Parts: sequence; C-alpha cells; structure tokens
Amino acid sequence: MERVHTTADADALLQKAALLIDAGRPAAARPLLVAARRLGPPTPTLARLGARLAMQDGTLDQARSDLDEAVTRTPDHAGLRITRAEIRHRLGDLEGATRDVAEAVILDRADPVAKAMLGVFMLELGRPHDAAACLAEAVEACPSEPAFREALANAHAALGDLDAAMAVLEHGIAAVPASVALRNAAILLCIRRRDFAQADRLCEAARIAGIADACTFGLRGHALSSLGRHAEAAGAYAEALKLGPGDPYVRHLAAAAGNLPSGTRAPAAYLETVFDGYADRFESHLISLGYRVPGVFRRLLAAHPRLQSGERLGPALDLGCGTGLVALAISDMAVGPLTGVDLSGRMLAQAAAKGLYAHLRQEDVMTALADGEARWPLILAGDVVCYFGALEELMQAVHARLEPGGWFMLSTEELLPHADGTLPGDGRWALLRQGRYVHHAEYLAGCATQAGFEIRVFERGVIRYEAEVPVDGFFVVLERVRHDG
Ligand SMILES: C[S@@+](CC[C@H](N)C(=O)[O-])C[C@H]1O[C@@H](n2cnc3c(N)ncnc32)[C@H](O)[C@@H]1O
Repeated sequence: MERVHTTADADALLQKAALLIDAGRPAAARPLLVAARRLGPPTPTLARLGARLAMQDGTLDQARSDLDEAVTRTPDHAGLRITRAEIRHRLGDLEGATRDVAEAVILDRADPVAKAMLGVFMLELGRPHDAAACLAEAVEACPSEPAFREALANAHAALGDLDAAMAVLEHGIAAVPASVALRNAAILLCIRRRDFAQADRLCEAARIAGIADACTFGLRGHALSSLGRHAEAAGAYAEALKLGPGDPYVRHLAAAAGNLPSGTRAPAAYLETVFDGYADRFESHLISLGYRVPGVFRRLLAAHPRLQSGERLGPALDLGCGTGLVALAISDMAVGPLTGVDLSGRMLAQAAAKGLYAHLRQEDVMTALADGEARWPLILAGDVVCYFGALEELMQAVHARLEPGGWFMLSTEELLPHADGTLPGDGRWALLRQGRYVHHAEYLAGCATQAGFEIRVFERGVIRYEAEVPVDGFFVVLERVRHDG
C-alpha cells in the first residue's frame, strides 16, 4: 500500500517538474526531480526529465550517460530513444541521433515526432528523398504542426523542387494561419527565387493578418531593397526595429539601409544567423554566381616561393573558412595542415564533411587571432573581409599571427562611386544594403602597410556576379617582412 502512495507522489512531482522545465525554470524543477528519485525506482519519465533539465543546464555528457543507462534498463521505450537522439544531436553525433530516432519509429510507428525528427536528421545527412518521405508522413499525422511543414518544405527545397516547397508552405499557412514561422519561411523562399514582388505581397498579407514579427519586416526590407524601393525598405526596417530592437540581424540590415549608423563590422550573431541559414545551399548558390575567389587564391598561391621550390607550405589558417571551398581549390597543393575558423556551426559541418581540415574551430576571426602564440606561414581570408568595415585591427591582428615572410591572402569588394561621383560611406569603407562592406583601394593598401605588411599582389578583378552584373573587388597578397621579428 505504502509503495502505491510513493509512486503516486513521485508521479505528481514529475508532472510539476515537467511543467517547470517547459516554462524554462530549471532551478525550480531540480529539487522536485531529486525528491522524485528518492520516492520511487528509476523510470523512463524520470530519466527523460533529468535529461531535459541537463540540456537546459548544458551538462550534455552527463545527460547522455544517464540516458545510456536508462535505455539499457528499458530498451523498448520510444520516448527514451527520442530524448537520447536530441542529446546526441546536440553533441554533434548525427549518425547516433539518427539511429535512435529510427529505432523510436520502429518502436512506435504512430509517433509523428519521431518521424519528423528522422526526416530532419536525414536532411542533415544529405538524404533529402528519405527526409521528404518521413516528413510527409509526419505532416499527414499531425497537420497542425507548423514545424513539420517547414521541415518538409526544406526537404523539397533541398531536392531542388522549389514549387513543391512553396506549395507545402502555402497549404501550411492555410491550415495554420497563425504561424508566423510558416509565413516567414514562405517569404524567404520567394526571396531565394528572386520573386521579390511576391515576397512583398506575402509580407503585406502577414501584416494585415497581424501575424508578423521583426523577421517578417526585416525580410520585407530586403525584398523592397532588391526591388529598388529603398524608401519603403527603410520604412520596413524601421518597423522591424520597433518589434525587435535588440535583434542583431535586423539591426545590421537596418544599418545597411541607412536607418542606423553603420557598425565597424558585422555582428557575430548576425553572421551566425545568416550563414547557418545559408549553409545548405551556399555552394550551389555561389557556383551559380560564378564565385571566383577560391580559383584566384589557388593561382596566386602557386607563386609562393616555398611551393615553387617543391617545399610544403603550412600549417595554414583559413579565416571564415565557410564550407571549405578554398581548401577544396588548393587540396592538391602542398599546403597544410589546415585549420579552419568560422562562426557558423552549419557552415563548419559542411567543411568537416570534406575531410580537408586538420582542425575546425567555431569562433570569431578576431578571437582566433587573439588566441595563443601560434605564428602561421599562411593565413587565408576568402570573401570574409567584406564582413569588416574598418580594417586596422584585423590587419594588425593577422600581422601579429604571421611568421616573418608569412603570407596573408584576402579578397574584398571595391568601394565604387555613386552615379553622381560621390563615394558612399566615409570614402574609405561603406556598408552596402546586402549587409556586406566594400573598401577603397587606397584605404585597403594603407591599412596593410600601416600594419607592417609589404604588398606582393594587389589585383582588381571580378569576385562573383550578382543578377549577372560583375561584382568588382581586390585579390591581395600581403607579406610580413622578414626582418621585423
Ligand atoms: C562568403 S563565406 C566565404 C567562405 C569561404 N571562405 C569561401 O571562400 O568559400 C564567409 C564566411 O565567413 C564567415 N565569417 C564572416 N565573418 C566572420 C568572423 N568575424 N568570424 C568568423 N567567421 C566569419 C561566415 O560565417 C561565412 O561562413
């Protein structure tokens, strides 16, 4: 009899703890879990809640080993597998996470959450066909869950079928009109298809329905700006700033549109948001834009005296390595081992998949340069300097990290005059509407020489094409002179 009471008490405590964890109040939930552990035997519910608490606390390794024990005790519990999959995924073990949710689907075929998670992980594993099949089943089982529909649209987009992706989002908006996430996903898809007028119409519909947030207005600003309707774009950014005054994405684009003063560099949180969202289609998109930086870097690097004399050049640091396109372009040269640094975890995941980097670090370029004593013979920065306006600090930091005779190879976009002949920004650098910075040749060269570099190469050339118009920039090789330490 006593036993029944304690189990009932433990269940009540667990219910309360679950509510507190859902409300993001881990400190209040913790003592309830401790008490529940004293009252009864370990149960799958207790293990799952403990793991969720640990996820909120960031103690993932502990949560993982607790769940391993729980799964060993109760191997047929689908929920335990789902929770362990979440933890494995957070720990970067995508294969293990996928195995767990696949097992959960087998254990409970009716569970749409397991199917949806399996679809999302398949997509990350580069299996969009399988992903679309799982996610279609999840949507059918649970038509009112916007996240499942958004993931299904992503799977169709990854298959290159943007019409199917748009149809999924349109049906989703009809089924769940209050979902701002689905509306924003549809607007973003229109922008990707360069259908800016339709993106603007969807924003207006969202505004009229009252289902719009800072992101909706930020995207509207982007669409209007791309249509050349800059005054209206400024209005949209002003609206976005009202709704999300602290949002770094909105703030940076609002600064680019002239609504705020320009910062001297793009904020880290902005870059992470943009490139995490862009990672899956980055390479195909850049190829379609005729991106030339990795190829030019390869040509310039071939002239390096060490490579010319048959020696190896390395180790090398690839700043803002992204998905690893520069590493790919030079993969048959005697350069390396390579260390890649990037803010975006999803870009880094793609770089890791190429297997060309000895080390990959998720951090800001400036943090990486400030860290440690390492001196590199080669530092690369392909299409990264365009996220910095003022270059003095960056040049000095790179200079300090090069060994004497070391090379810094970079590309950047050129600051060109407006039609009336005036230079945007302060004439040295400017933040353009797309959120990237451009630099004047004299300023770029001046920062380099002031930092102590000798300029070996300063080439003007096409970086890529935008709407079939060439984007001009500079390919620069700087050398740390040998006698300065
Ligand atoms: C346009 S991509 C170029 C990627 C690669 N270098 C290439 O040429 O393909 C720019 C990359 O730089 C990263 N990035 C920009 N600013 C950064 C910073 N301050 N610190 C770390 N990464 C940065 C972005 O996350 C993105 O992956």
